[in-house]
Amino acid sequence: MSATVPVPHVLVIFGASGDLARRKLFPALFSLHRQHLLPLPFVMLGVGRTPFTDEQFRDEMRACLSRFVPVRADEHPQERLCFVQCFSYLTLSTGNGADYGRLAERLRDIQTRRNLPANVVFYLSTPPALSRHIPGYLAENGLHDEADGFKRLIIEKPFGHDGASARELHDTLRRRFADHQIFRIDHYLGKETVQNLVVLRFANVLFDAVWDYRYVDAVEITASESLGVENRAGYFDGIGIVRDMIQNHLLHVLAMTAMDPPQQFDAACVHAETLKVLRGLRPLTRDEMARDVVFGQYTASRIGGETVAAYADEPGVAPGSRTETYAAIKLFINHSRWHNVPFYVRAGKRLPTRVTEVVLHFKRSPHPVFGAVPGALPNKLVMRIQPDEGVLMTFGMKEPGAGFQVKNVNMNFHYKDLAATAIPDAYERLLLDCMNGDATLYASGDAVEACWAFIDPILRHHAQSGRLFEYPAGTWGPAEAEALLARDGRAWRYPCKALSDDGAICEL
Ligand code: BG6
Repeated sequence: MSATVPVPHVLVIFGASGDLARRKLFPALFSLHRQHLLPLPFVMLGVGRTPFTDEQFRDEMRACLSRFVPVRADEHPQERLCFVQCFSYLTLSTGNGADYGRLAERLRDIQTRRNLPANVVFYLSTPPALSRHIPGYLAENGLHDEADGFKRLIIEKPFGHDGASARELHDTLRRRFADHQIFRIDHYLGKETVQNLVVLRFANVLFDAVWDYRYVDAVEITASESLGVENRAGYFDGIGIVRDMIQNHLLHVLAMTAMDPPQQFDAACVHAETLKVLRGLRPLTRDEMARDVVFGQYTASRIGGETVAAYADEPGVAPGSRTETYAAIKLFINHSRWHNVPFYVRAGKRLPTRVTEVVLHFKRSPHPVFGAVPGALPNKLVMRIQPDEGVLMTFGMKEPGAGFQVKNVNMNFHYKDLAATAIPDAYERLLLDCMNGDATLYASGDAVEACWAFIDPILRHHAQSGRLFEYPAGTWGPAEAEALLARDGRAWRYPCKALSDDGAICEL
């Protein structure tokens, strides 16, 4: 399937002067522009409370591109100039419904002047409290009505704080917009290597054939970040890593790893299969919550000769905060394919390195032809989502010479070895897909609710009686997380060799 150029429409970005828009959305749009994948003409209307004229906004965007997008050798000097000319801006009090008539008017004006159909994509890059109200204000001004052209709404996580608030949010959206108009972005689904999970399985009989309980012993999913909470304590404190990373990103990665083959790769089929996995997450019993869930919080430490503050001392963190910066969960899926296969999921901030990967640990050969061969380990398939994106397979080979000594060797594929292929940013793929009306790589409302149904009891248990273990910043989390696997005779994969002064040496 090659990329399709979307039909003409106006892209409206709420929160256009915010951090996400600057760091992710505009660079992604610029990359699409360079690949000639934006509609012609391309028209982007930034909306926000910060007062800008069109010209001031374009200057801002030029500066933002210089900051976040390095000039490439094949880039023509006119390209950025020409790109930002597609932008205009409307200063709007986004929290005030009475102001939205001006947005409708501005859109009509643009459509008439540019001879455009009334197709609009609205991107809500705004804080959650505001994102709840914007769809209603749009609808009150007829900006949800598809009689004269499509109207699509992209919304950013968090989709609620728990199951009840997620349902409330979905009900609010569904009162105004139909399901096919709502695009819930989970940027992990847009990551090239997450999509490759599906290709690896379903385009290669070799892998697909062994992707179940008969051959897989356990699955590990890790999202480790070396950064701490940085300047985001205002958002993160009280939210925690489970809501921030596991409830959404990692459970969706899990669903892509565990799902049955969809009949075809479209939104309806992929959503149906991933939903089957997410609804099949076996609720943890109270005992399991006490035994198979580990929450941690980082303490002060020295990394590379520098003192790193404890989470509790980060600016903006409430005194005595019990917010978890690390979590590991052992879970099972009620699905015949995954009968009794444990999935170990962990995420954490201030760990030794930044890495996200899925590891399939295979079973040992059922019949040991060579007896108990020293050094022989079961096969392992590592799908590295980031960084150094790629796939690693380990298997045993005979050591040359007499007898049958087995040595474990690696077969390694690095995306970077694909000549002239730059891995596109997730936002690039997701923006383009929404412009083309394709929601396959977006989260469905049902999937979001299924994730909450699994996570809610864990969070409740933690709030009432869960323990919070400490781990020094720069380590792999609390010792209790080791014990979680050690009890089952397993160990986490440590995807990084060792800490060095300038961070971690990461090897696939
Ligand atoms: C965001 C979380 O959704 O994902 C952040 O809010 C986290 O806390 C980020 O750092 C990780 O994304 P990526 O693409 O850098 O792995």
